[in-house]
Amino acid sequence: MPNTVLVTREEPIAVVQINRPTVRNALNDEVMTELVAALQRLDDDEAIRCLVITGDEKAFCAGADIKDEFVKATAVSMLAGDLTSKWEAIRKIHTPIIAAVSGYALGGGCELAMICDVIVASETARFGQPEINLGIIPGAGGTQRLTRVAGKYVANEIILTGRFVKADEAKAIGLVAQVYPAASWLDDAKALARTIAEKPPIAARLATEAVDIAWSATLDAGLEFERKAFYLLFATEDKKEGVDAFVNKRKATFKGR
Ligand code: CAA
Repeated sequence: MPNTVLVTREEPIAVVQINRPTVRNALNDEVMTELVAALQRLDDDEAIRCLVITGDEKAFCAGADIKDEFVKATAVSMLAGDLTSKWEAIRKIHTPIIAAVSGYALGGGCELAMICDVIVASETARFGQPEINLGIIPGAGGTQRLTRVAGKYVANEIILTGRFVKADEAKAIGLVAQVYPAASWLDDAKALARTIAEKPPIAARLATEAVDIAWSATLDAGLEFERKAFYLLFATEDKKEGVDAFVNKRKATFKGR
């Protein structure tokens, strides 16, 4: 196996690291296949309750591998490659995913971060959708998700110029939840993952699904989903545990039941 993706289990969290440092962690078919397989394996593992996707200090991910994948690519080969199914598979992971970004998150790298549930960044992070410089446009959700985050005018300016957005600006436009110091970004991201991992997993899953629906459905449809999910959670053991722990002034221990 090429080992283009490394998994470190630190129960109840796991870190999934893209491992192609010589090409700034660019995405090729092997990375996407290994990434999806690793995430699906961890999603099936009840001991793992929050995932962190990361790269290295220099790059979260510089996007699609331009040299490997784009030089010979044609419209027909891109269509036949069915990349969409891999991105969709990541979107369907139920366990909350944090993108921990240091350095570059460009093109498909920015899109990978945006498919996660939370994005946090080192102060060194640089986000961008520079596909325009290659004569193409973002192809894994960039035009849609960045626009939902930043609005039409900011998204167009970023996509049309291909410029890099620094961590502080990314936070200001709502792309990034937290900016951490360069010396501690990954530890800080893992601490956030452990905080989320302590929460009731079924509620966490339904919360992220409800938030995603806010992007894709009408307000009425989103409110309807939220209401049903809210009622459903009253049937869980974790709801009894959370309420009992509050009433009896103790720390709750959630089981995902
Ligand atoms: N694909 C292939 N190789 C890449 C790459 C990519 N996306 N990004 C970087 N590399 C390679 C470089 O070619 C270089 O290889 P060599 O050492 O063999 O020359 C190596 O990684 C290091 O890169 P740099 O020397 O350029 O390092 P840097 O730190 O000065 O700059 C960078 C880093 C800003 C990321 C710059 O490499 C760059 O602009 N990369 C391209 C980013 C890009 O355009 N991404 C969008 C791709 S299209 C896409 O993602 C479509 C989609 O929606 C799915």
